[in-house]
Amino acid sequence: MQTILIFTLLVGFISAQAPIPTRPDGYGVGGPADAHVVIEMFLDPLCPGCKASWPTVLQVIQAYGTKIHFRFHTFPLPYHTNSFVASQGVHVISNVTNRNLDSIFTYVTKVFENQETWYNDATKNMTMPQVVDSLATFVAQLGLVTKAQFLAGMANDDINFETRVSWKYACSRGVVGTPTFLINGVATSADDSWSLADWKSVIDPILASNFVLPSKVNDCPPGQTECTYLPGKTECCLAGERCIQNVGCRCFNLKLGNKCL
Ligand SMILES: *[C@@H]1O[C@H](CO)[C@@H](O)[C@H](O)[C@H]1NC(C)=O
Ligand SMILES: *[C@@H]1O[C@H](CO)[C@@H](O)[C@H](O)[C@H]1NC(C)=O
Repeated sequence: MQTILIFTLLVGFISAQAPIPTRPDGYGVGGPADAHVVIEMFLDPLCPGCKASWPTVLQVIQAYGTKIHFRFHTFPLPYHTNSFVASQGVHVISNVTNRNLDSIFTYVTKVFENQETWYNDATKNMTMPQVVDSLATFVAQLGLVTKAQFLAGMANDDINFETRVSWKYACSRGVVGTPTFLINGVATSADDSWSLADWKSVIDPILASNFVLPSKVNDCPPGQTECTYLPGKTECCLAGERCIQNVGCRCFNLKLGNKCL
């Protein structure tokens, strides 16, 4: 009896840990994964807000090219009944096409465009195999993979598990809804109301802060040095002060309690 209890507690403890994915979670495009700006989107293929933000997301990807890294993660919400299978579909396309990002992004785009087909109300008279079949027919018509490949992937335990791992990963990042956008790992208020200009107003200053601008004419008094710590923001550093990016002139001198000489 006691053994069973301990065993149950252990199982509970172990399953509370998210499994480590076999590679960093998600599907990324643009620059390298350690670009100055990394945007992560947690999406549910059947979430209307995700569908609404997607065209702007594609514009952002287009506008910045390799200057930023964009990565999405699947996070099917439980109250969108068919979301898990639609999310597993992403992982199936990835598996069958050997991670072809064009195919993966096309799948997401097309499922968003036809999202209503798999809404709760639209499918309430359908069984789950019928829903999966309808998705497989749709994917085959797009020419992404064959219907047989898609159905096999949907029945594959490993790919099902991979989809669960992505979901657990999103939970471990504190994601509670979709779309959720993180910029350099930090949650933002970005949603479908954000235009390309709104995105630019956040991305551009981060990118700019990573480039050293050529210094202008030196206006600083003798003995002081000019410090352009943000684009268009300049201070004159006193002797002993250092110019810190994004911050300005600061003293770092532990012996003197961070006072300048
Ligand atoms: C696709 O899934 C199969 C079965 O789980 C697996 O053996 C294979 O490595 C996967 N391929 C890719 C590219 O993910
Ligand atoms: C589901 O079945 C009911 C009863 O046959 C029917 O009235 C309803 O229109 C059907 N709904 C859909 C979305 O097909």
